[in-house]
Parts: sequence; structure tokens; C-alpha cells
Amino acid sequence: MPILEKETARDQGSQVLPKVPVPPLKQTLDTYLKCVQHLVKEEQFKKTKAIVEKFGAPGGVGEVLQKKLVERRDKTTNWVYDYWLEDMYLNNRLALPVNSSPVMVFPKQTFRDQKDALRFASRLIRGVLEYKALIDTRALPVEFARGQLAGTPLCMEQYYRIFTSYRYPDLKTDSLKVHAASSAPEHMIVACKNQFFVLDVVANSKQLSETEISSQLEKIVKMSENAEERLPPFGILTSDGRTEWAQARDALTKDKTNRDSLALIESCICVVCLDEPSGLEANDTNRALLMLHGGGREKNGANRWYDKSMQFVAGMDGICGVVCEHSAFEGIVLVQCSEFIMKYITGSPSEMVKSSSFRELPPPRRLLWKCNPSIQGLLSASGDRLQRLVNNLDMDVFKFKIYGKEFIKKQKMSPDAFIQVALQLAFYKCGRRLVPTYESASIRRFQQGRVDNIRSATAEALAFVKSMTDERVTYTDSEKMKRLRDAINAQTNYTIAAITGMAIDNHLLGLLRIAKDLNMEKPEIFCDETYLASNQFILSTSQVPTTVEMFCCYGPVVPNGYGACYNPQSDHIMFCMSSFWENTQTSSVVFVKALNEGLLEIRDLCNRSSAAATKPAESSQAAGQPRKSGK
Ligand code: COA
Repeated sequence: MPILEKETARDQGSQVLPKVPVPPLKQTLDTYLKCVQHLVKEEQFKKTKAIVEKFGAPGGVGEVLQKKLVERRDKTTNWVYDYWLEDMYLNNRLALPVNSSPVMVFPKQTFRDQKDALRFASRLIRGVLEYKALIDTRALPVEFARGQLAGTPLCMEQYYRIFTSYRYPDLKTDSLKVHAASSAPEHMIVACKNQFFVLDVVANSKQLSETEISSQLEKIVKMSENAEERLPPFGILTSDGRTEWAQARDALTKDKTNRDSLALIESCICVVCLDEPSGLEANDTNRALLMLHGGGREKNGANRWYDKSMQFVAGMDGICGVVCEHSAFEGIVLVQCSEFIMKYITGSPSEMVKSSSFRELPPPRRLLWKCNPSIQGLLSASGDRLQRLVNNLDMDVFKFKIYGKEFIKKQKMSPDAFIQVALQLAFYKCGRRLVPTYESASIRRFQQGRVDNIRSATAEALAFVKSMTDERVTYTDSEKMKRLRDAINAQTNYTIAAITGMAIDNHLLGLLRIAKDLNMEKPEIFCDETYLASNQFILSTSQVPTTVEMFCCYGPVVPNGYGACYNPQSDHIMFCMSSFWENTQTSSVVFVKALNEGLLEIRDLCNRSSAAATKPAESSQAAGQPRKSGK
């Protein structure tokens, strides 16, 4: 769409995006049954089928709720937005690190000394300010869909929350607040040695230059080294469960000093964390772990403020990246912002070399906290819980170097669908079953669109993985290839349905929440064991591609699950597998081994099949029904 290419977000109002549709009720219920049939026992499925049929029967509860949902669609900009936000994030009581906040891991930086590291941090801050200027003037170019159904414009709203939102903890449901653009903040919070400082980025109506920022950061480091003025590590409270943090916050706000400090953090542009050297080898897995949880209270776990949407980490040992509070925007927005900043850091000449303007500025202020024995107890309990999370996270960052998107495209297959099927194969190899799987699908083609779910554990994927692993029956290559193509087609079709607003998860959530809004008894379909199990995403996956050397990762969403974030490149694929050590059924290293094996087996299958296709006589021999093996 060349005419729209130069359009910026400022103009987007001129071409209003469509509203998220409400799929037909019957379509969703049929798809739901299809998604769960092969994942539950036969008896259980019969029960579920009867419940679903009753729900969807003419004149049944489903029809009433569907009608109300369509009314809601007409009355609101996006009927699912609030329901989804609460269900996905705000109602979740788990701690933000590992369980919710994704991170970007930058390439390892090499700093000559601390001054050099602070220079990097100053450039990073300048990069943030440049990006923020694009947002403030609504000058970001409108993005267009790539990949499947490419070309349509995408909703840009998420970008306008990057530097203006804050997630407040509460006892039952958190709240995500977004400042009005007119009250745009002009300060950042810098965390250093668990102390927090206010860095004003504007002085006398003029933004600070790189040299001025660097000088301010040096003052911050110096102040943080003064042991006499050092305050307890209050940031650790934000790493706790949301209810625990809400209770602690209530205790803090009884004191005016604490209220003032909180207000300054809650209204900042972003947090910049100057981390102490971790003492760990800076390999991909360790950098991912340190970004996800800071290494616990003994390392940089308290040098964070997890409620704030963007925390930029500049470690003195070169371990750098971004920690993102997820409720305001998706990983794709995080990637765009991170890439802009990284390109700014590496691509433009340092302002310092140009000896940019320098003003002698007053030192940044340290945020003060009032502590008492009860708050001291809360800090210590939060630290203990973070330590448990740190000890529990089993992470394995795996770069699969044998092939990437190009090989898959040559097979005339969707790379994303191919990778999803490979993940199913790996899971099956580890546990001899498939489980409810989540893949995020962007619905930014619609107004205020966020995501819906592609349920990747399809019946077709199960048939394929069985054909690849069954030791009793030997399947011919052509049979396996047919199953592979069926699995990839099923996955691709689900993807297309999801990105066009026709997936089932948001719709079912909408029906459930409408029933609640109407004070109706919870419909049986939502109390059913199958529904509850189908929402435990043991495999939680997401494609987060980058164009600059960096990668995204996150933790599992259930105790017995895996997080699988992948970044397909033309000649390799990066996988970040996470799980919990406390669960004996999962192991990231075992999963990675199975994944590597599966990806090679699928490649060999494709190669053998194309070779056979070019030799018709031999290939006809290979075709036919599966044969019983001798075993
Ligand atoms: N033969 C050859 N090439 C094919 C193909 C086929 N059968 N099918 C697809 N391709 C090509 C596409 O044209 C595309 O080409 P490009 O690299 O030139 O753009 C490329 O392969 C990738 O397409 P595909 O692998 O099908 O996936 P996609 O890019 O459409 O991505 C989703 C699918 C679901 C990941 C995407 O729609 C999405 O929603 N992304 C957002 C995920 C998200 O929100 N993540 C963050 C969560 S916090």
C-alpha cells in the first residue's frame, strides 16, 4: 500500500480501523470442541460436548450472552479490551518478574571502565528521549502487517503508553494508569546500588545533552556509594506477588516521605538501572536470567521498580537490556523501541565527541524512604520470595544454527507454523502427549487491538508427531509428509482466523464476563473441567522477531509449564526456553534437546521428500499406507 507508507500515527485517525469482530457463536463452540477433543479423555469429552451443545442450543444461555456481546461491540471501541486486560494481567496475583514481564537482552557490551559504562547509559537515555519525541509529536510511522495477510495498517495506540503508563498494585485487581500526554513527565528514575534518584532530563526548558547526562550519572554513582546515606532496598517490594506488594504499599503510604517518593517514581518516563557486575559468565542464558530477575537480592534484584513499563538496564559488566511491564503493550512494541535505541547507540556519532553543550547542573535528588521494623520485615519477606523465584527459574537460550526461515519458505511452508509444529513435536517427545498451547496472535488490525490465542496443539499436529515418534508403526515418508503439511495448514488456518479476530479465546472470555456483568450464575461450560484445563497453558509460546542483534524472553505461565519465545532469522532460529526447577516434569535442557532433534528430523523428512519427488519411480515406492514395524 504505497500511498499509506509515509503516513504517521498522527494521521491514523483519518482512516479508522475496523472494530474487533464478535465471531458467530456456533463457529466458536465448534472450534472449541475441535481444539480440546484430542487433549482430554474420551469420557470427559462426551460430557463437555453435551454441556457445549446445551449452551449453544437455540434459545439457550449462549444466545442470550452472544446478543449482549454484540450490543457491547456496538457501544464500545473494543469490546474485549478491558475484559482481556484484567484477565490476562491485572487480576493475576503472581509476581511480575519471571511470571509476567518479558525482557529484551542486548548483545554483551564491552566497557573499558565505569566511565565508559556510564557513557553507554547516557547514550541510551538520549536514545529514549529521541524515541519519546517521536511519540510525543505522534510522528511514529504507522506500521503495516507483514507475513500472513500483509499490507493492512496496524493500530499504533500501544506505542503511546510506553512512557506514560504505570501499573499500580491492588489487593484483588491492579490498575493500569496512563498519564495524559499534556502532563508528560520530564524526569527519569535512576536505580543504582538499590538507591533511587530523580534525573531531570530537562533543565531551563532544554533537554540535557549526552555529556550533561553522563555527568549526572557520575554524581549518582558517587552518591550511591556513600554508605551513611544508603537506604534499605525498597525496590524489592515491587518484585513480590501483587497482593503482597499492594499490602506493603499501603504500609508505605502512611508516611509522607514515602508517598512523595512513590509519586515521583509513578510519574517518571522510565527507570534506568545501573547494575553492579553480576560475577556471572555473560553467556546468553545468564544474561537472560539476569534480565528476568536481576539475580535476586544479593545481585541486582532490588535495583528495579517492576511496576514501571520500561526499565532500561545498563550493567557495569556489559550485561544490558530492557525489562518491560507487559500490561500496557505487547513484545512487538518493546522490540521496536529497543531496536530504535540500540540503533541510536551504535549508529549515530557520540555527542560527546562533538563536545556537546555542558551546563553545571545541581546533583540529582536521592529518593528518601521512611522505614520501621514492620516495613523492614516486609522487605525481608519480599527478598526471600524473590530468591525462591530466582532459584526456581530454569532457562536455556538455544540458537538453532542449522537452518532458519529461508529453508522453511523453500518448502512452501509458513515459518511460524513450521516452528509451532516443531515445538509440538519436541513436547511430545518429552511427555508423549500434547497439552493446551498458547501462541500470541496480534489483532492490531483492529481498533485498540492487542492479541488473541492460536491454540497450536491441533489434532493435525498430534497426528504428525505420532507419525514421527511411534515405535510400533512405521510410517512412510510420504505419509509423514502429508501429516506435516496437514499440521502446518491447520496451524496456518488458525493463525489467519486469529489475526482476523475469529479465534475463540477472547470470544469465550467475553461470554463469561458478560454473564458476570449480568449477575448470572456462571454458565456450566465455564465450570467444566475441560474448560479449566484448556486454559492452563503448559506451553506458552510467542514469536518475537528482531532485526538488530538482541532477543526477547519470558518465563512459564504455569508451575508445570514452559515459556517458549522464538526469534526466526533467515538462517537460524533463536529459542528461549524457560521452566521451573521445582517441577519434576519439566526441564528446559531436555526440551531443547528434543527440539533440536525434532527440527533436524523434519528437515531430513523434507529433504528426503523433495529428493523423492524429483525421482518419480522411487517415490511411488515410498507412498502408501503405514506399515507395522517388526518391533
Ligand atoms: N511459503 C513461503 N513463504 C511463506 C509461506 C509459504 N507457505 N507462508 C508464509 N510465508 C512467508 C511470509 O510471506 C513471510 O514473509 P516475509 O518474511 O517476507 O514477511 C514469512 O514467511 C513469515 O510468515 P509466517 O511465518 O507465516 O508468520 P507471520 O510473520 O505471519 O507471523 C504470527 C505469524 C502469528 C506470529 C503474527 O501474525 C503475529 O501475530 N505476530 C505477533 C506476535 C506477538 O504479538 N508477539 C509478542 C507477544 S508479547
